[in-house]
Amino acid sequence: MVLLLRACAALAALAGCAQAAAISRSSYEDGTSLVQPVYKPLDLGSVKPLGWFKDQLELEAAGLSGNMFDFYRFVNDSKYIGGSTEYSGLDEASPYWFNGLVPLAFGLGDERIIGQVKYYLDYLLDHQQEDGWIGWETTQATRGLWARCLLLLGLIQYAEADPTQTERIVDAMHRYVVLAHSMLQNNYTGLLVHGNDTYDTAGFGVGRTHEMHIPLQWLLERYPRNNSEIIWETMELMVEGGVLWGADWRTFWTDEAYPHVLYETTPFDLSWVFIHGVNMAQGLRYPLSLYLNSGDKALKEQTRKAVDLLAEYHRSLAGTIIADEYISDLNPSRGAELCIAAEVMFSSAYIYQYLGDNDIADWAEQTAFNAFPVSVSPDWWSHQYVQQENQPWSRNLTTDDLWWDVNSYANVFGLEPNYPCCTVNHPQAYPKFLANSFATTPDGGLAHVFLVPGTAAATLGSDNPVFVSVNTTYPFGHTLTYTLSASQPFDFYIRIPTWVHPSRSTISTSSTNTSTGVTSTTSTTLSPSPDDSRNLQHISVPAGSSTTTLRLSTTPRVVRRANDTAAIYYGALLYALAIEHDAVAVPPVEYRSGNVLPPSTTDPHGHTHDYVLTPKRDAKWNLAIDPTQIHVVRRSRGSSPSAFEEHKDDVLEVSSDELKDPIWDLGAPPIELRVAAVEIDWPVIMDTAADPGTFDVTPVGKPFYARFVPYGSSKLHMALLPVVQLDDVDFDASD
Ligand SMILES: *[C@@H]1O[C@H](CO)[C@@H](O)[C@H](O)[C@H]1NC(C)=O
Ligand SMILES: *[C@@H]1O[C@H](CO)[C@@H](O)[C@H](O)[C@H]1NC(C)=O
Ligand SMILES: *[C@@H]1O[C@H](CO)[C@@H](O)[C@H](O)[C@H]1NC(C)=O
Ligand SMILES: *[C@@H]1O[C@H](CO)[C@@H](O)[C@H](O)[C@H]1NC(C)=O
Ligand SMILES: *[C@@H]1O[C@H](CO)[C@@H](O)[C@H](O)[C@H]1NC(C)=O
Ligand SMILES: *[C@@H]1O[C@H](CO)[C@@H](O)[C@H](O)[C@H]1NC(C)=O
Ligand SMILES: *[C@@H]1O[C@H](CO)[C@@H](O)[C@H](O)[C@H]1NC(C)=O
Repeated sequence: MVLLLRACAALAALAGCAQAAAISRSSYEDGTSLVQPVYKPLDLGSVKPLGWFKDQLELEAAGLSGNMFDFYRFVNDSKYIGGSTEYSGLDEASPYWFNGLVPLAFGLGDERIIGQVKYYLDYLLDHQQEDGWIGWETTQATRGLWARCLLLLGLIQYAEADPTQTERIVDAMHRYVVLAHSMLQNNYTGLLVHGNDTYDTAGFGVGRTHEMHIPLQWLLERYPRNNSEIIWETMELMVEGGVLWGADWRTFWTDEAYPHVLYETTPFDLSWVFIHGVNMAQGLRYPLSLYLNSGDKALKEQTRKAVDLLAEYHRSLAGTIIADEYISDLNPSRGAELCIAAEVMFSSAYIYQYLGDNDIADWAEQTAFNAFPVSVSPDWWSHQYVQQENQPWSRNLTTDDLWWDVNSYANVFGLEPNYPCCTVNHPQAYPKFLANSFATTPDGGLAHVFLVPGTAAATLGSDNPVFVSVNTTYPFGHTLTYTLSASQPFDFYIRIPTWVHPSRSTISTSSTNTSTGVTSTTSTTLSPSPDDSRNLQHISVPAGSSTTTLRLSTTPRVVRRANDTAAIYYGALLYALAIEHDAVAVPPVEYRSGNVLPPSTTDPHGHTHDYVLTPKRDAKWNLAIDPTQIHVVRRSRGSSPSAFEEHKDDVLEVSSDELKDPIWDLGAPPIELRVAAVEIDWPVIMDTAADPGTFDVTPVGKPFYARFVPYGSSKLHMALLPVVQLDDVDFDASD
């Protein structure tokens, strides 16, 4: 998030229109209702983590996310809680933090974190101003609506998770919405900058006007309190103001307008707002947000179009959007901002709930299991601002010329290696993914949609409390065991990812008849619904207690990219060349000056560091591969735990005790791939690996097998490599 674009004379003028137009009439009619989701998430707190995913959330709570409240200046000394530090006129830092920490607190049920968000909630609501403003700003110049969207997103989650707070949160939201409505009616005050207003000089808020929709739609549906028309009009005014400014995402997500490839030298006629990666990850939700109000099917179709355009031109191998901070092409050495991965996870989960398309849920998992964890250190105390998919080192580069608007320090793991937005916004990713991992279905059933281990408690219909517990090491292993209980029969569904081979996968169900005490077991191959793209496996769950085990079959997949390059996936995981590294901890630096940060904003217990990661002496990163020669290996369970043995089954069965904690660390996942490879002369350009496919591939020396590991576990890695044909490699040679 940087306010000035360098060397981009071709960019359209920053500010949009000069004159705001008259307000159109509201389309609200009595009794209007919103479009309903296909899969409706459960209220926050209903889903709890288990297994490796619980370990991750606990690490998050014990790491930077769960501790920055106690020392990090943009949270600890935030103006929202009586402090004096904000990083920009957007005043968005602690609102981002709140939006992410609320689901962490209640997803884990962690009393310490609940204490943090409760303190913030109390301060916020106790200091709501006379006129309804939420926040500390008192002048028109400083009162921007944008950060309120984040506060409201945090508030609605809080209201769901803790019924004792619902009433006062809803009261506060109603008072606020009346004020926001009157501001917007007054020439879009708080949204469009007038005169000396300082709250949004670049246009971040005005490019994200739809972000008010989710909390206001929630309020409208659950607690309208005779205020529906005001709530409705507030959403419309937000969007109208944005349109007047020139930030109408409906004009962007089209085949004609969407920039297929973009460089600083490409002449184009688009607002910078549309080509900014984080904006795009959020802007994916724009047509859908509007669709929910209008029911206009074209907006639903445009949501699908937006997903497809991004997927084709800018989605990275790991699931995020390549944008540093602006999109360019798919060069795997370009950067992808951590906030983008967090926002993509939220957008894809949200869009999936309304469209129901299976590939969109796969996308959420792809980002959650690859792009997100790779940029966070195993202990959750440091993170990168941008990741590179081909990243042979992580240190202050000698130049930032490769990137549009990101500094040379941005791929360092640290406290605020570049703009602090990622420090405060990354915490939302995993907790929201957990909350969205189960959902109810239109026929009154329950579905497990993101296949991480956890439990879900829900009441189906008016009086059928059900409880589901899923024990799995997914995505490291491909088996899932469900324990289900209910007082009445219900329909349960499991989402089958697109890469599963159904005819080689099995499902077995075992239940005990409550009256006869007889246990029956059935076992068949998978038969996910063939009639649509939803790919759900249906299970008729009887009253009482039952168990179901799924064994998903799949094999490694090679994805070819331009100019004879390829990447390798196995299940939901991208596998990348492992690069063993040395890590040197250095004191964390301030994002703008590069000066060492004072102790007043770093962890008093010494956990905050920046890290220089460099390949070990004999670690090779400059390889070409022959992806026709891939072997799956797994860590031996026997006497020598560092040895690997070949894995030959269709179904990858990995037990919980085979997963180390932390799991996103080199060598922690028990499954690896061995891929035929050869060293090549790989040029270094602008202090990083040149774009594969743009230089001649000249093998050096003899072929051997290279070690490929889950991308998220290898902080230094190469994911997109040139393809060559190699002689048969001896996979039994020891490493
Ligand atoms: C800010 O940090 C100080 C020092 O750790 C702590 O005493 C104080 O309670 C924190 N403030 C808030 C609002 O958490
Ligand atoms: C409304 O705001 C715009 C943009 O700041 C300004 O140019 C215009 O004069 C304002 N119109 C009125 C009626 O205040
Ligand atoms: C903007 O600030 C300048 C300098 O403080 C002041 O002279 C001017 O009247 C202000 N303009 C508006 C529209 O408030
Ligand atoms: C809703 O508003 C109408 C018109 O202002 C009023 O007559 C009615 O009493 C209100 N109902 C509630 C429940 O506040
Ligand atoms: C990183 O390197 C750049 C030159 O590329 C230099 O200007 C800057 O001060 C360095 N930053 C730090 C924190 O060392
Ligand atoms: C989950 O499975 C592991 C074996 O892989 C077992 O040790 C553990 O007890 C199971 N947990 C639950 C909650 O069923
Ligand atoms: C493929 O190679 C050609 C010729 O070197 C080059 O112009 C082009 O940019 C390359 N494309 C990609 C996507 O790397």
